Amino acid sequence: MPREILFNAFVMNCVAHQSPGLWRHSQDYSLDYTSLQHWADLARLLERGLFDAMFIADVLGAYDVYGGSPAAALRGGVQVPVNDPMMLVPAMALVTEHLGFGVTANLSYEPPTIFARRLSTLDHLTRGRIGWNIVTGYLDSAARGVGERLAAHDDRYDRADEFMAVVLALWEESWADGAVRRDRAGGIYADAAKVRPIRHEGTHYRVDAIHLAEPSPQRTPVLFQAGSSAKGRDFAARHAECVFVSGPSARVIAPRVAAIREAAAAHGRDALKVFSLMTVVLGSTEREAQEKLAGYCELASPEGGLVLMSGWTGVDFAAMRLDEEVRHVENDAGRTAMDNITRADRDRRWTVGEVGRHVALGGIGPSSCGTPGQVADAMERWVADTGVDGFNLSYAVMPGTFADIVDQLVPELQRRDRYKRGYGEGTLREKLFGAGARRSKPS
Ligand SMILES: Cc1cc2nc3c(=O)[nH]c(=O)nc-3n(C[C@H](O)[C@H](O)[C@H](O)COP(=O)(O)O)c2cc1C
Repeated sequence: MPREILFNAFVMNCVAHQSPGLWRHSQDYSLDYTSLQHWADLARLLERGLFDAMFIADVLGAYDVYGGSPAAALRGGVQVPVNDPMMLVPAMALVTEHLGFGVTANLSYEPPTIFARRLSTLDHLTRGRIGWNIVTGYLDSAARGVGERLAAHDDRYDRADEFMAVVLALWEESWADGAVRRDRAGGIYADAAKVRPIRHEGTHYRVDAIHLAEPSPQRTPVLFQAGSSAKGRDFAARHAECVFVSGPSARVIAPRVAAIREAAAAHGRDALKVFSLMTVVLGSTEREAQEKLAGYCELASPEGGLVLMSGWTGVDFAAMRLDEEVRHVENDAGRTAMDNITRADRDRRWTVGEVGRHVALGGIGPSSCGTPGQVADAMERWVADTGVDGFNLSYAVMPGTFADIVDQLVPELQRRDRYKRGYGEGTLREKLFGAGARRSKPS
């Protein structure tokens, strides 16, 4: 029996996430991103399509590597302005019952105690539907915003390890099971003997505190992570329950998926769910889909694509010719984005212009355009070739891309028994990993 394919919607609290320029499209409503109604409607749509989660990306600085300034990013609304992702969640949780929310939070610039409480709060308010995409940031602009410089690539993961030790202890060890009594007659809310402080003295953090929030349905949010470098993979192998991978072809993705699963298995963790990025353009006929795609490509901004790529790789693509072939550079920005277009597939060379055009339509993942049957075929093939469990679906237009997926692609996948027909019970973790599932810890 083939496995069901999982779906996340890949979005961001901004005008242009990974489809720069398309906010100008007549069918795009991204300009409403400051409206709660916009997000509530999207959450309801995704729940109607039985999406596992809405995954909300985030950055804490502007994309200012391209041309050495944020001007191009601001002109095109490319991930700037960008609002806080977490603030959206309670309103969306109120109008849905099952949809998960994977919020991205950069751990580099705030104390773990304060962060841990914010996530516990969201886990309470969503009744256990919160996930956390653990990121350390690749933008020097974010570091400068708090008076620092971007830390070295591998050092960021070391800091993240220490941060994880503290937040996991706060979530899982500070309040023992049964500490919350809520005993009205006896006048005892919590049993003080069952709540203990977490004490930590490390390189980056010194903590002596009880967790301020009482245990939430999941205690620890479902942990998502997206690093594919050697250091990132090692981090994911020990911490992540769900991993995002992104790359332009199955040939690029498959070895990464195998490597991450192998690394996790070495820590006794084999239940990992892996999601890969994809953009889908659907039509009831192939011609209709192709016409839609042509309309998107007319408005998608290659310059916006290069603004994003410059931020991800730390390389200023504005300083290069569009017909120039991209050569590998290693620096302290993200490693995978550069690998995707240089080393990951030695038979595929990318010019700067090609990178800009490709990234402008949904990011560095593949696009699949066609009838629901054709796109379902492509997805099944991709899953078979790469070993992923599901997709992180980028959009071309908001919310039209998701409406097409819900109305056209989901029924097709259900007909093939490749997509759920209803949500499972319980928390996000239980929905993804089965009833009673607990966070899998490294052995
Ligand atoms: C699908 C996907 C989504 C990501 N979302 C974010 C994000 O919202 N914010 C962020 O700072 N980094 C994000 N990243 C970047 C990763 O956290 C990481 O920095 C990047 O994959 C490079 O990691 P590496 O150097 O270990 O390969 C994302 C990566 C992928 C593949």
